[in-house]
Amino acid sequence: MLVLGIETSCDETGVALVEDGRRVRSNVLADQQTLHARYGGVVPEVASRAHVDLLHPAVEEACALGGARLGDVDAVAVTLGPGLAGSLLVGVAAAKAYAFALDRPLVGVNHLIAHVYANVLEHGPLPLPAVVFVVSGGHTSLLVMDGQGAFRMLGQTIDDAAGEAYDKVARVLGLGYPGGPVIDDLARTGDPAAVRFPRALIDDGSDDFSLSGLKTAVLRHVRAAGPALDLAGVAASFQEAVVDVQVSKVLGAAKREGLDTVLLAGGVAANSRLRARLTDEAEGLGVRVLAPSPALCTDNGAMVACAGSLALERGERTPLEAGADPNLPIVPGVGRRASRRPKRQPR
Ligand code: KG4
Ligand code: ZN
Repeated sequence: MLVLGIETSCDETGVALVEDGRRVRSNVLADQQTLHARYGGVVPEVASRAHVDLLHPAVEEACALGGARLGDVDAVAVTLGPGLAGSLLVGVAAAKAYAFALDRPLVGVNHLIAHVYANVLEHGPLPLPAVVFVVSGGHTSLLVMDGQGAFRMLGQTIDDAAGEAYDKVARVLGLGYPGGPVIDDLARTGDPAAVRFPRALIDDGSDDFSLSGLKTAVLRHVRAAGPALDLAGVAASFQEAVVDVQVSKVLGAAKREGLDTVLLAGGVAANSRLRARLTDEAEGLGVRVLAPSPALCTDNGAMVACAGSLALERGERTPLEAGADPNLPIVPGVGRRASRRPKRQPR
């Protein structure tokens, strides 16, 4: 079964061809980052217009690279939500058009669940039940995955998402957008103990997260330090504060739930410090940590095709009347507490 996966929930136009839910034949990313970088964040209107321009050429490229014609596609998978309304709309409208024109089934997938299934592309069938940690630009959610597509929410951020915090701190440090990869790189040369930043909610016994105080602490530190600012030290210390809380909460949940597998997912799962520390500390507890390779952690079409293939195998189909849902929750009835507000103003 050859599935065309389309991802347009934010600022990446991702199109992939995945065979039998596992083998990535092509995975094309039409990067919009240069368009948004000058604004220091994603501008929704710019993103939707760029998706319109980039999507069909990306589909053609995915077919060419995957050695297939559009007519060879057996089904079309697309991200229905959550994400930016206008961006989602472009992908969903295009996916419907391809499905209709090709007379093939359409399957809509949840973007966050697609992030989790990126692990299948890397590691094969998921060992379930498992603790799942979804950390992206819009979400920080700690869950238990009991079975295919069945999640239980343990906790989530009460303010900023992890990626949002990386992006905002990078902006304060003048490092550009997206901030996660730049901070990750810069932190390698800095001392993680250079500045003692707060670790909110680390010992509160909950599975919730809070990052807005940490972001403010970095801002205050930067203002107070002036030209003497140790940029790499601040980046490493900020990252260490984020990772300390993440590792403590994720492993705390695994212990309490009696689960020996952790699945990492989302753009921030590409963070080298999170991957290394979580894997190390989990090992001592007999817990294994699975994460997609960094390139499959951030938004891409292959994860959508993979999640779509598995949903198709379960008999799921999405009617052509279905619409995008910017607030689609990972667990029905459990929404995000705070919504991501992309920056509109130039610096
Ligand atoms: O999952 P994703 O590609 O898009 C959303 O669904 O939001 O995540 C994007 C986020 C951005 O905030 C970006 O800064 C962050 O993931 N990110 C990272 C790293 N690579 C990407 N954060 C920390 N370390 C990284 N290496
Ligand atoms: Zn994402």
